[in-house]
Parts: sequence; C-alpha cells; structure tokens
Amino acid sequence: MVGAPGAGKGTQAALLAERLGIPHVASGDIFRDHIRRETALGKKVKSYMDQGALVPDDLTVQMIDDRLDKPDAAKGVILDGFPRTRRQAEVLDAMLAKKGGRVTAALYVDVDREKLLRRLSGRWLCTERADHVYHETARPPKKTGVCDIDGAPLYQRDDDKPATIKARMEKQLPPMFEVVDYYTDSGVLHAVDGDQPVDEVTDELMRAIAPPAR
Ligand code: AP5
Repeated sequence: MVGAPGAGKGTQAALLAERLGIPHVASGDIFRDHIRRETALGKKVKSYMDQGALVPDDLTVQMIDDRLDKPDAAKGVILDGFPRTRRQAEVLDAMLAKKGGRVTAALYVDVDREKLLRRLSGRWLCTERADHVYHETARPPKKTGVCDIDGAPLYQRDDDKPATIKARMEKQLPPMFEVVDYYTDSGVLHAVDGDQPVDEVTDELMRAIAPPAR
C-alpha cells in the first residue's frame, strides 16, 4: 500500500488482509510497538517519528526483512507504509527475490492534501489493536472514545498534531512520489481514488488485485 499520511492505507490494508486471509504488516505500527516496549529499536526511531521524518532506510529494511521471515508471511502479506523511498523499494525487490517472492501489486491510494489534514486530525485509534481505526466524523465509533470491536479506549497519535502533520507531508511526500514512479515503471502500480467511501475504495482495490474473470 502506497499513499500519503492519512490516505487510508492502514484502514484499507486491514480490510484487504481480512478478505485475502494474509497478514497486514504495517511499518509504522511495528515502530510504535517498539517505542511502547522501549526496545533498542524503539529508542532509535522515536525522534525521527516525533519530527515527522522518515526513519533511516537501514533500520526500516532490517525490521521488514525480519518480519517477512516469520512463518505467517509465507503465503504473502499486505505491506502498509513500506517501501517509502526508492531505495527501500529496490531493497524490497532484492529481499523478496532471495525469499522466492515478488511485489505482485503496488496499490496507490490517492487523496488530495486538504482532505488528508482533516483525516489525520480527526483520527482515533484503538489502544489494543492498531488496525482498529476510526474518524470522528467519517467513521465514528458507536460510543465516543471506545473501540466498537473490543471495547478498548481510543487515543490520538502524537504525530497527528498539526505541526507534525505538516512536517510529515513536507518530508515524506517527495520520496513517496518516487516510489509511485518506481512501481509505475515496473508495471505493477494500481492507482485508486481514495476519496470515496471506505467500502468502495476496498472494492476497487480488490478489483485491482484480482480482476473479475471475463
Ligand atoms: P505510519 O504509521 O505508516 O503513518 P503514515 O504513513 O503517516 O500513515 P497513517 O497511518 O498516518 O495514515 P494511513 O494512510 O494509514 O491512514 P488511516 O487508514 O489511518 O508511519 C508513521 C511514522 O513511522 C512515519 O512518519 C515515519 O516516521 C515512520 N515510518 C513508517 N514506515 C516507514 C518507512 N517505510 N520508512 C521510514 N520511516 C517509516 O486513515 C486516516 C484517517 O482517515 C482515519 O481516521 C480513517 O478512519 C479515515 N479514513 C480512512 N479512509 C477513509 C475514507 N475513504 N473516507 C473518509 N475517511 C477515511
């Protein structure tokens, strides 16, 4: 899944993973889990994330490589938020070739910048499961502040403050467009209009991955 901060990558990756029966691997969620557990990796990445900057490629690539070696990844995964730079995309191709796999589809969720700001500032997340994602107007929970699925409290991410959102856009959109170009050139990019109701975006992404038989 490729897309700007707030485009809906996490929302869609969770739905696709459920429909396809494969794991959802989100680089940002893995980093946040390391920060919460105060691991060595978490301590290294925190300052980059707090500033809205990308975490250096070497740390990110190693973490994804380790995750893809877990047994549940053997039949494929939905990668969400990785790769984020051209270098990461190149390394991913080499890494997958060694494991006997490849990138079968790069799904680009396209949303204009004005809407991204509204989405991020209204986002609420479950404290128990990172892939239970809400929005105060577009996708509100039934009970304010409580996850519909498991009843856990909801919270707002530290990097969803206005100044950090602005930094994320400025620092992360240029490398993201290089990733879009990379996958356009390799012929696997599917661009989808992310400014539609969530279910319609999912249906369009599913059609891109597995077009209906004629
Ligand atoms: P990460 O966690 O990946 O954050 P991000 O890319 O900024 O993406 P978000 O999680 O903010 O947004 P999303 O596209 O998943 O949108 P969501 O579905 O939540 O990364 C965090 C940080 O980690 C980075 O800043 C960086 O520092 C570091 N990092 C991570 N990966 C890295 C890498 N590969 N290399 C280097 N550094 C890395 O939706 C947003 C909101 O919109 C929600 O409220 C949702 O309910 C709502 N919404 C979703 N879809 C719709 C819709 N169709 N209509 C209306 N509302 C919608």
